[in-house]
Amino acid sequence: MSMNIVIIGAQWGDEGKGKVVDMLAQDFDVVVRSQGGNNAGHTVAVDGKTYVFSLIPSGIAHPGKRCFIGNGVVLDPVAFCLELDRLSGQGLRITPHNLAISRKAHMIMPYHKLLDQAREKSRGTSKIGTTGRGIGPCYEDKAARIGIRLADMENESLLYSKIEMALKEKNALLAGLYGQQCLRVEDIMEEIRPATARMIPFLADIQDEMEELWKKGGKILFEGAQGTHLDIDHGTYPFVTSSNTISGGAATGSGIAPWKLTRIIGITKAYTTRVGSGPFPTELNDAAGDRLREQGGEFGTITGRPRRCGWLDAVVLRESVRLNGLTEIAMTKLDVLSGMDSVNICTAYVYKGQHILYPPQEENGLAEATPVYDELPGWKDNIGSADSMEKLPSSARAYIRKIEDICGIPAKIISVGPDRKQTIIKS
Ligand code: IMP
Repeated sequence: MSMNIVIIGAQWGDEGKGKVVDMLAQDFDVVVRSQGGNNAGHTVAVDGKTYVFSLIPSGIAHPGKRCFIGNGVVLDPVAFCLELDRLSGQGLRITPHNLAISRKAHMIMPYHKLLDQAREKSRGTSKIGTTGRGIGPCYEDKAARIGIRLADMENESLLYSKIEMALKEKNALLAGLYGQQCLRVEDIMEEIRPATARMIPFLADIQDEMEELWKKGGKILFEGAQGTHLDIDHGTYPFVTSSNTISGGAATGSGIAPWKLTRIIGITKAYTTRVGSGPFPTELNDAAGDRLREQGGEFGTITGRPRRCGWLDAVVLRESVRLNGLTEIAMTKLDVLSGMDSVNICTAYVYKGQHILYPPQEENGLAEATPVYDELPGWKDNIGSADSMEKLPSSARAYIRKIEDICGIPAKIISVGPDRKQTIIKS
């Protein structure tokens, strides 16, 4: 019987999805990325070596494992080649034998990056805090039906005419609104040609392969990027990314039928972090927050920005359970909480005088929500070598149980350190 699992960030991204994907990948035939782009940064540590994946699925760290990049991803060809070279330099072999990319995925062009950065700059104090990688403008063009798809790489005259057409509008914006120089189609072609030439052999019909695999009872693992509360529809709009980060995005972003997604695992840190702007009710702007940042190494993998840190927000998790249909939780970085006298879990908000269990839906409503905390005893022991639940201190077990009770689903994977081996898998 075919088994397809979706890995979803249950918070605002950076939950440690890369590690969980890497752990599970050995039991799957294929690992698929279905949304986002090189705004993501998935870190995998294996035997003292650390790999950072941005566009390429983390499953590629397993020799012989096949990986797909789906139609829902936006892909910068130059960034893709840089990542390919960086990972090859670390000894990973990436060829069309183990990586296939959908022809339907959209291409991030130089003007997308320029517009992303110029627009952020012009927003002044209301910045989104984007990664500046052109992700939003590329998805905008996709929706506006003026996007450039990877298939267009295979037809240079079509590619040229599409860029020429797009530049009419882009140059008007870049020069007229943002005071920048106009771009020339020839320069763009020259800039991207070496990268597109390297990418063409990777282009494939991944839907076809997934269907064949499904018929044979194969197993597919979907590697979500960003997190549920950065979802373009359901996240803390407008402080969100531009794709559907929830589990439904795995279906639309790869072409698999939704009913073929059998298990949905929500990844949550044992606390909460967020990068970029936007409301964050449990944020700690004090020594406890600084401690989480230092102990947890909470600095952006891609941008190096310090992450905002705070207590675990179970209201955010509750929403993730229902939006994604989570069947279980994987909790990461439990070890970072070790050494605290007590730990807090936000179980509800007070919003406009009411006690609420789910995030408010008004624009920026979360900014007005006050967290209601349950204080639990902390634990002092170093738990980095615990390999079973029994080896965790009783207060750490009680912390996990409380989260399971609130979410109504089991926490089946508990990560107690960055290495693949530092993981407790509950039977
Ligand atoms: P964009 O995706 O670059 O447009 O950025 C939009 C928002 O999503 C910003 O607040 C980013 O910091 C955030 N974001 C994008 N990708 C990630 C990620 O992989 N982890 C955490 N936050 C992200």
